[in-house]
Amino acid sequence: MYKTISIIKKNKIKILDQRKLPFKTCYIITDNYKTVIKAIKNLSVRGAPAIGVAGGFAAFLAINKLNNNHDFKNKIKKMLKEIESSRPTAVNLSWAIKKFYRILDNKKNSLPELKKIFFNISVDIEKQEIEVSNKISKNGVKLIKNNFNILTHCNTGRLATTGIGTALGVISSANKIRKNLKLFATETRPLNQGSRLTTWEANKEDINCTLITDSMAAYSIKEKKVNLVIVGADRIALNGDTANKIGTLQLAILAKYYSIPFYVAAPISTFDKDSKSGKEIIIENRDQEEVFKINQTRITQSKKALNPAFDVTPSKLITGIITDKGIIQKPNKNKIKKLLSI
Ligand code: MRU
Repeated sequence: MYKTISIIKKNKIKILDQRKLPFKTCYIITDNYKTVIKAIKNLSVRGAPAIGVAGGFAAFLAINKLNNNHDFKNKIKKMLKEIESSRPTAVNLSWAIKKFYRILDNKKNSLPELKKIFFNISVDIEKQEIEVSNKISKNGVKLIKNNFNILTHCNTGRLATTGIGTALGVISSANKIRKNLKLFATETRPLNQGSRLTTWEANKEDINCTLITDSMAAYSIKEKKVNLVIVGADRIALNGDTANKIGTLQLAILAKYYSIPFYVAAPISTFDKDSKSGKEIIIENRDQEEVFKINQTRITQSKKALNPAFDVTPSKLITGIITDKGIIQKPNKNKIKKLLSI
């Protein structure tokens, strides 16, 4: 089984370079937190929960190289800020980094003690992520019946989470116990996380998977009789508005039009207590070159392109959110606050 990200010999981490998949299996091995930041920015490691795990390991690598001096706490805070701001939308990253800030604020530890604590926290974030993925899959599997046709977007499997996955984890688990499931995976332009990564993971999980371009979604839902859409999430506001890979909103609108359920699968760490609604979610805008090119080859003479990495689906279009603590049907502020115990 491939591993998205792991720690080796307590001082280096190994990242499966997702930019090279599916044709090459290459790893980035580093003891430098700046290399991890670069890997997060260029999407070598991607998917909200996996970014959180990578951020945690980056925090440990950052402190690991520090020498004792009187100003070490400020230096650590500066590096944590740098890690936290490497990608703005996936809240799992700041969720992970906040754990380290809390230690700095609350405890008067020496640098060697902090190094140990940071190491343990980073390992713990990864472990937790695996358990949480399993729980999401267990909770979501009941939504899927024999002979279901399911549509998903982007990549939400092991590569995006380090565990079994969120949306794709639910689908993989259902595929083991239900008969005759069919998955339709959108290619997910501009960076093709669907065609490159989801179909690769689906093959490994023995899922009957058909690739469609993003523009075939309405056709596929109508003509291939899709029963259910499940996607992941990068940040969920307190009212249930959900940011996920660009193209998710149009799928939710289609699901409503064709009266099929639209589910989001995400861990509790993807809920943002500080965003009241989707209006407060910052959407990452990426370089337009990603839209001009497919696999490094320029396919257009256009001089301008939009490249928002995510869009926000309003909560009223979401049938339910599958979490590690259960499913919230028809999500709203009260139900989410109750789930988060706030
Ligand atoms: O830009 P990416 O590839 O990091 O975007 C990933 C997604 O949008 C996923 O759907 C989301 O992070 C959920 S991953 C379980």
